[in-house]
Amino acid sequence: MSEHLEVTKTTPLEFVYALLGGLFAPGLAIVMIVLLAVGIQMRQVDNATASESDQVVRNRIKPYGVSLAVDPNVPKVEMTGEQVYNEVCTSCHGSGALQSPKFKDSAAWGKRLGQGYDTLLLHALKGIRQMPARGGEPDLTDMEVARAMVYMTNAAGASFEPVLAKERVLSAAELARGQSVYTAKCASCHDSGMTGAQKLNDTAAWTGLIKEGKDALYAAAINGSFGGPAKGGDLTLADADVKLAVDYMVAQAKTAIDAAKTATAKK
Ligand code: HEC
Ligand code: HEC
Repeated sequence: MSEHLEVTKTTPLEFVYALLGGLFAPGLAIVMIVLLAVGIQMRQVDNATASESDQVVRNRIKPYGVSLAVDPNVPKVEMTGEQVYNEVCTSCHGSGALQSPKFKDSAAWGKRLGQGYDTLLLHALKGIRQMPARGGEPDLTDMEVARAMVYMTNAAGASFEPVLAKERVLSAAELARGQSVYTAKCASCHDSGMTGAQKLNDTAAWTGLIKEGKDALYAAAINGSFGGPAKGGDLTLADADVKLAVDYMVAQAKTAIDAAKTATAKK
């Protein structure tokens, strides 16, 4: 048998292709590198113009409350109400621009104060008519907006305390629903403390848990936490029911915590 792997003869045409390929491939590579470099340069130029036009936009809208106070590169430090007012709110409220109630103008604020703290805070956070949400500065925290709102309203005669929305009070029906979900789906572990589940009368554990806030507890109960199964192990449970069960647990734990406090106070 003759050799199967016999090398086929190179035709003159193939020879030319190979030659051209050998000559041009490095050339092509060089051209591409140059194009890449130019491309990078161009993009930098683009960036510069983009930030320039950004600056133009910022300048254009500056009188309407875009502040330089919030630099995203600087770690966030909570500002006082006065600071927020001076950085953000004063651009309108200092002069009464856009018919905003002017700082210290108790006549302009008078009727508005009557709406009450919660409504005023809601409007400061969400905006109302020409009043932009958070005064147009989305990076302000709820508390900073609340402090600035209180700083302004108190200067116009109110006597508010900056607090965030109070926790919703549960109806008796909601608590009852929470209790029945708890009894059916959660008590097996949380009554006994099985596998490390926090018992409702474990005041130390619940004092810590309550500090995490309801939202964190809801999330832990719905998605599961270390050792705590998602939805108590019953994924058919509605989120709303799991939340009510958590509400019930927190209410029970708070009762236990209060009872422990009065007990130590009596001693
Ligand atoms: C772009 C201008 C502008 C800026 C900046 C601004 N406000 Fe206002 N604000 C207004 C206007 C306009 C109104 C009146 C809205 C209306 O009732 O029609 C108003 C009204 C309010 C009211 C009264 C709402 C009510 O229900 O009567 C509060 C409170 C308020 N602003 C808080 C703030 C706070 C706090 C800041 C700063 C974080 C701020 N504003 C920044 C324009 C501004
Ligand atoms: C099979 C046992 C078991 C059942 C059933 C169970 N849990 Fe838990 N749960 C645990 C354990 C264990 C932990 C402690 C996890 C840990 O150490 O953080 C826990 C923790 C929690 C926590 C605190 C989360 C945290 O941040 O630590 C909440 C809230 C909670 N469970 C709610 C529920 C609710 C609501 C139900 C019923 C729908 C339920 N659990 C049913 C075992 C259970």
